[in-house]
Amino acid sequence: RKKIGIITSGGDAPGMNAAVRAVVRAAIHKGCDAFAIYEGYEGLVQGGHMIKQMRWEDVRGWLSEGGTLIGTARSAAFRERWGRLKAAKNMIVNGIDALIVCGGDGSLTGADLFRAEWPGLLKELIETKELTDSQIRGYEHLTIVGLVGSIDNDMSSTDATIGAYSSLTRICQSVDFIDATALSHSRAFVVEVMGRHCGWLALMAGIATGADYVFIPEQPPNASEWGNEICSVVDAHRQKGKRKTIVIVCEGAIDSDLNPISAENVKDLLVERLGLDTRITTLGHVQRGGSAVAFDRLIATMQGYDAVEAVLESTPDTPSPMIGINENKISRKPLVQSVALTKEVASAIKKKDFARAMSLRDTEFAD
Ligand code: F6P
Repeated sequence: RKKIGIITSGGDAPGMNAAVRAVVRAAIHKGCDAFAIYEGYEGLVQGGHMIKQMRWEDVRGWLSEGGTLIGTARSAAFRERWGRLKAAKNMIVNGIDALIVCGGDGSLTGADLFRAEWPGLLKELIETKELTDSQIRGYEHLTIVGLVGSIDNDMSSTDATIGAYSSLTRICQSVDFIDATALSHSRAFVVEVMGRHCGWLALMAGIATGADYVFIPEQPPNASEWGNEICSVVDAHRQKGKRKTIVIVCEGAIDSDLNPISAENVKDLLVERLGLDTRITTLGHVQRGGSAVAFDRLIATMQGYDAVEAVLESTPDTPSPMIGINENKISRKPLVQSVALTKEVASAIKKKDFARAMSLRDTEFAD
């Protein structure tokens, strides 16, 4: 009987609970045992009550719950070899040799490193008499499957990460609220949104709310001209009779000289050059909380189911898959390459090679 562990790791994202629910129920449906590992990789390192076998009814009602009910943590111990040794031992003790990890690129990289080290970890556990040969028999290979949970939608080779559309919806609702008060006072608002170094949330929110201007890291405006440009755009909108101004700034926005563009910078410009009564709203973690929208519940459920199938189909030679969605179809992509590509995009942006960043984002891997 296959024993499958599920972990949520990194920043929480709406839809993670739907993913855990789907994995638990698909595993049980397919005759496997499902284990929730609490507090991300920290639960694997600590073992004991942090690893809990889940029953069908344990995940009842989880579709509509925000955050992650099995917890998440940034585990310092798992980044160290001794932590991964403890994690490997706890897995064997619980009979688990397949892990489904729902998290961002950092969490998925950690998972694949764990898989690559697995034979060495087992060898060391035997040498140090933590485990015996007979205990590890049948557990020689670790299966890892990745689910991408992140509000940032920053993973290459999938169209949407679990949580991104919920966060986008929350941002749009918030901007709608801000619109009402901005309109009343004829004010300008600079709204800072999350996304780290990925402008997807900012750009999509800008389109969906009809914002006057959007700043994203992927398309840094000219350092010496962006001030004039935004002022002329906002001024033109005001001349046409618009009573409110909304500027959306991604938290990682930069100019062409790689200087950060902050909400404060933008506010100062609007006040000093255009004399607009301007306020800043930093949406913060409101963007990450709350229940998942239908789309995130759907992809989390379909991807969670597919993750269990991928575990059952995996062989020692199969590379770890990452479950994604491409053109409305659930897809399996090579996890290591997808994570590497995501990192390459970030490094191309850092080196100001925006054309390369864009073309890398469009890289296709066969399913
Ligand atoms: O990756 C998700 C995210 O919400 C980013 O958009 C943001 O930059 C970061 O996490 C915030 O992290 P924390 O919750 O640790 O402050």
